[in-house]
Amino acid sequence: MIEQKLNITHRTGSYTIFIGENLFGIKEALAQQIAGSHVCVVTNETVKPLYLDACLTALTQFEVEVVVLPDGEQYKNFTYYNQVMNLLCEKHYPRDSTLIALGGGVIGDLTGFAAATYQRGVAYIQVPTTLLSQVDSSIGGKTAINHAVGKNLIGAFYPPQVVLIDVTTLATLSQREYLSGLAELIKAALIADAEFFIWIEQHIDALLKRDVTILKQAIMRACQIKQTIVMRDELETMHNHCRILLNFGHTFGHAIEQVLGYGEWLHGEAVALGMHMATCLSQDLGLLDQTSVQRVYALLERAGYALQLPVGASSANLIQRMRHDKKVYSNCLNLILLQRIGTAVVKSDVPMLALQSVLERYSAH
Ligand SMILES: NC(=O)c1ccc[n+]([C@@H]2O[C@H](COP(=O)([O-])OP(=O)(O)OC[C@H]3O[C@@H](n4cnc5c(N)ncnc54)[C@H](O)[C@@H]3O)[C@@H](O)[C@H]2O)c1
Repeated sequence: MIEQKLNITHRTGSYTIFIGENLFGIKEALAQQIAGSHVCVVTNETVKPLYLDACLTALTQFEVEVVVLPDGEQYKNFTYYNQVMNLLCEKHYPRDSTLIALGGGVIGDLTGFAAATYQRGVAYIQVPTTLLSQVDSSIGGKTAINHAVGKNLIGAFYPPQVVLIDVTTLATLSQREYLSGLAELIKAALIADAEFFIWIEQHIDALLKRDVTILKQAIMRACQIKQTIVMRDELETMHNHCRILLNFGHTFGHAIEQVLGYGEWLHGEAVALGMHMATCLSQDLGLLDQTSVQRVYALLERAGYALQLPVGASSANLIQRMRHDKKVYSNCLNLILLQRIGTAVVKSDVPMLALQSVLERYSAH
């Protein structure tokens, strides 16, 4: 059942985000979006046994190939991108082919990049199956693969044909992955919508229980926030500091992930702590009041995030990493801070001492 639709316009056209339950069988959502006769579904070993059959039943009138990749961020690389390319080339997939990304953000990013580059661009459909990919990575047209030197270094801005968000797929997600995605949902409220933050405070128990009705409302609102931001700043331009607001908590979060070693903490777990650090820093710099900091802390704690750095992540190491974050322009560390709950701002003149003082409060002594 399609419950909600959102439309995103971009440089070269527009696409629709469908949100609902059991969407695979709905022609309007999937089959009608496919122009030609050739479809290639890209998924991974974990998602395949869960949702591939349902997806394929909606595609019986097409010539369909399936690529099943191993599961993990470490496979979002040239080797597995090339595996998709080899299939498309060897099976002579034409220019009006459609790729379908069935999985989380890893599959979405890699499939999107394959679509962006095969024959200079073919259509692709995002079918995100993690909470993070439903509220964040499937929307906005960023596609990428990793390089040994860094994450997402090779990629393109290339919007999908349609995004199909079936919230029932979240039932099978592990608790850690679910919470990782929930952090991005909370982020959306913190940076752009105070009312939504209050709503999350009121519905956090239902969200933690994955109540489908509540989830649909929450995902819709988070998608609207991302829609508004990416439509204002499709290509993440440096003068239009709009899309960069989506990185709230991420400069801290990336540094935590790197210092601990990727995979030790999930992205959203690191972002949750990063958001709290950014919130405290906002208070230290006189931007945010203490009550707001306490509310953010209470919500993150209620959701179950670790809000202390584990042993092995020192404040000195974190600062070192943050200086190398790709959001450093003209040698200034850009940090996204909060002016109020629901209003984020970019600060490019944050004194290192203030940063250090905040980070030290989170260190395990
Ligand atoms: N393009 C963007 O704008 C953007 C934004 C944020 C993140 N990203 C990228 O997204 C990726 C992270 O995405 P993610 O958090 O979805 O991770 P992921 O794709 O690795 O998925 C997390 C885990 O959940 C499993 N899974 C997926 N759907 C499932 C389901 N319904 N039930 C059970 N298990 C399921 C996956 O197999 C995997 O093990 C990163 O590569 C990141 O760089 C991209």
